[in-house]
Amino acid sequence: MVAKTLFGFEELLAEELKKLGAQDVKPGVRSVTFYGDKGFMYKANLCLRTAIKILKPIETFKVFNEKDLYKGVYRMHWDKYLSADQTFAIDATVHSDRFSHSQFIALKTKDAIADKFRNIEGKRPNVDLKFPDLRIHVHIQHDRCTISLDSSGRSLHQRGYKTATNIAPINEVLAAGLIMLSGWDGQSDFMDPMCGSGTILIEAAMIACNIPANINRKEFAFEKWSDWDVDLYEKIEDAALNKTREFHHKLLGYDKAPSVVKKAKANVKEANLSDYISIKHEDFFKTRKSGEEHLHMVFNPPYGERLDIDMEAFYGDIGSTLKHGYPGTNAWFITSNLEALKHVGLRPSRRIRLFNGKLESKLVKYEMYAGSKKAKKQKIEE
Ligand SMILES: C[S@@+](CC[C@H](N)C(=O)[O-])C[C@H]1O[C@@H](n2cnc3c(N)ncnc32)[C@H](O)[C@@H]1O
Repeated sequence: MVAKTLFGFEELLAEELKKLGAQDVKPGVRSVTFYGDKGFMYKANLCLRTAIKILKPIETFKVFNEKDLYKGVYRMHWDKYLSADQTFAIDATVHSDRFSHSQFIALKTKDAIADKFRNIEGKRPNVDLKFPDLRIHVHIQHDRCTISLDSSGRSLHQRGYKTATNIAPINEVLAAGLIMLSGWDGQSDFMDPMCGSGTILIEAAMIACNIPANINRKEFAFEKWSDWDVDLYEKIEDAALNKTREFHHKLLGYDKAPSVVKKAKANVKEANLSDYISIKHEDFFKTRKSGEEHLHMVFNPPYGERLDIDMEAFYGDIGSTLKHGYPGTNAWFITSNLEALKHVGLRPSRRIRLFNGKLESKLVKYEMYAGSKKAKKQKIEE
């Protein structure tokens, strides 16, 4: 199978897959390939935090032109996966000199499947781009075409706990990956000082308690497959839920917008995590760390989507709040405003290149030592 992910998360996803029990795990670019059976496919969809979707390849063949594509798709036994009364949709990705337009590839594939049904059964399944019964993925790499079934359906970042969103919620897969890259293991207090709709806190709580990432999700595409095995799925879900653990530290979120705080609380409630996460209406720049315990911080500050904020001063305030108010803290944040980042005034000990959607971003780490006003000089690791 192929698990797709975000740029920079390939190794994290490979680790997740190995821990879940996948065989022959190989990281690629924005993807990881692995072997597993049907039960493992259910488990991967349910449990992986850094996967966007899981594709199950069903056929590969060589393609030199569009006729080869049509013939290759036509030859397949589509009645194993789809009936004429059902609906389907095609996604295509192309990395080849011979083919350039992925939409054209999707169209040709659709034609071949529809013609096959029409010629054999006299009727054909319809296309439904939004809620298809079967989502098919065509991938052309040079002269190799792989046809896969998309076992996830809508992207796996749609965990199902978000009822309320603010203007710039972070993608759940990105949030989980940032926390994992930051090395947080649930063994200290955790804070998101600009928590927005609460995504980072919710993902952190699920990591700390080992709660399957997609336990609240409404549906997976495989539930509509002809080989859907509800008993097997329930066994896998029960086994995953048996591995949850207690969390004995605090998860704290601040946001200075009262309406956003309300939304974050609603999402935390929807995720059944109100016992673990507290959210307060606070301006981070007016706060101080309470207690001596080590604190781990992960957040995504505004990057300048609103023109009324002086971003350079804002990032300067992040730096001085951390320096003066948060000793004994490892603070990580992601931003795509690389200019404003220079105004934090502290030396990052890590800088990791990632993407927030299409925006190239940096995940940075600042280590604030307890009992020392000056941040120690640290080696910059790229
Ligand atoms: C990019 S959003 C964070 C999105 C969040 N991670 C989510 O998933 O919804 C930045 C948030 O920072 C908040 N914010 C801006 N300045 C702040 C400050 N001084 N103190 C606390 N929150 C602040 C904004 O209200 C906004 O909700």
